[in-house]
Amino acid sequence: MNRRRFLQQTGVAGLLASAWPAVAQSTNAPAENRAATAGLAFTTPPSLQSPSPTGVTVAIGVNGPSTAWVEFGDTPALGRVATGARHGLKPFDALVHAIRVDGLRPGQRCYYRVHAAAIDFKNAYNIRRGETVATEVFSFQTLNPKADAARFAVWNDTHENAATLAQLMTLTGRQPADFHVWNGDITNDNYREADMVRHYVGAGGQPFTRDTPLLFVRGNHDDRGPVARALDRFQATPGGRSYYSFAHGPLAGVVLNTGEDKPDTHPVYAGLGDYVAFHREQAAWLAEEIKRPQLRRAKFRVAFMHIPMWWVGDRGDGGFANDPDDPRSEWHRLLIQGKFHAVISGHTHRHALFPPDAKKPYAQMVGGGPRPAAATLIRGEATARELTLTMTDLAGTELAVWRTKG
Ligand SMILES: [Fe+2]
Ligand SMILES: [Fe+2]
Repeated sequence: MNRRRFLQQTGVAGLLASAWPAVAQSTNAPAENRAATAGLAFTTPPSLQSPSPTGVTVAIGVNGPSTAWVEFGDTPALGRVATGARHGLKPFDALVHAIRVDGLRPGQRCYYRVHAAAIDFKNAYNIRRGETVATEVFSFQTLNPKADAARFAVWNDTHENAATLAQLMTLTGRQPADFHVWNGDITNDNYREADMVRHYVGAGGQPFTRDTPLLFVRGNHDDRGPVARALDRFQATPGGRSYYSFAHGPLAGVVLNTGEDKPDTHPVYAGLGDYVAFHREQAAWLAEEIKRPQLRRAKFRVAFMHIPMWWVGDRGDGGFANDPDDPRSEWHRLLIQGKFHAVISGHTHRHALFPPDAKKPYAQMVGGGPRPAAATLIRGEATARELTLTMTDLAGTELAVWRTKG
């Protein structure tokens, strides 16, 4: 596919749900093949990551050694530039670029375009700039803690299932959302960084993070495989941590990293996991976070975590919140202390709703599995009066609804 056609397909016209499958086709060819026959090209649409009220990280895949930058502004005329420089060094990479755009206002619409330039890095005294490419102009809105309402859509356990991703995208596109949440298990395991570009930055061939920022939640499968430690290169999160907080409208919340689903001592990990310490670290962080005004003053509080706190039946033993030896059981106490209204999870591959009860005063909604027949879309809407969580199957049929007035 030539560059012009790729850019046309990822253009503003591609905002229409009907255009998305065409983009999916354009990103499926392996990047390295195209690099051998064509010039510099983007291998994914832009991906909006780690959103805040004043900024977002724009990531994009490339097919060869290059640098990149983002032109942005309040109007399609753009006018400002984010260079992506760190420690004085502008980006140089052959797979992916991640450029932080900052200095925005809460809730503003920001227009942007990504540029890349081929770089032939022969040696430290012989670096040549080559051709440049640019995307069309897209736009998104920053998070805004003072917004009247918050609307979000949650995916989980897509596990590289192309049919599920395509149908989820179509369903997601039917209603606007202020942000999306990918609640873990994007892949089965990570063996090649080039594949991670397609799965994480390219969202499996669906440009759903091009116009709406993404909150990324790590699942146990995202931590698997020899190159899983490179995941930060493909999904930016606040402060580079996989646990963090956010606020938008009447909603505030936290993202927690539940880690692997077996004990650190399990032989399959060969001693490479240290999740007990990591879960304690998150408990200590959460204890401080729930004291912050951003969470305390929000009308509604939600926690996103891949593995649910509670489970019953053949896929679990009651959940880690029940196990006093598991440091994640401390998260349960802290979520109660912080007056959280809901936990949204996945992992079980079977959807469920656990309304609040005597043991846990928060609701827990668990999304479904990777096959189209088992997959779900969870939508959340928080207004000044009410928080509503709705889970549907891929046909849009309602599976569960939970609402609270706080
Ligand atoms: Fe999963
Ligand atoms: Fe999982």
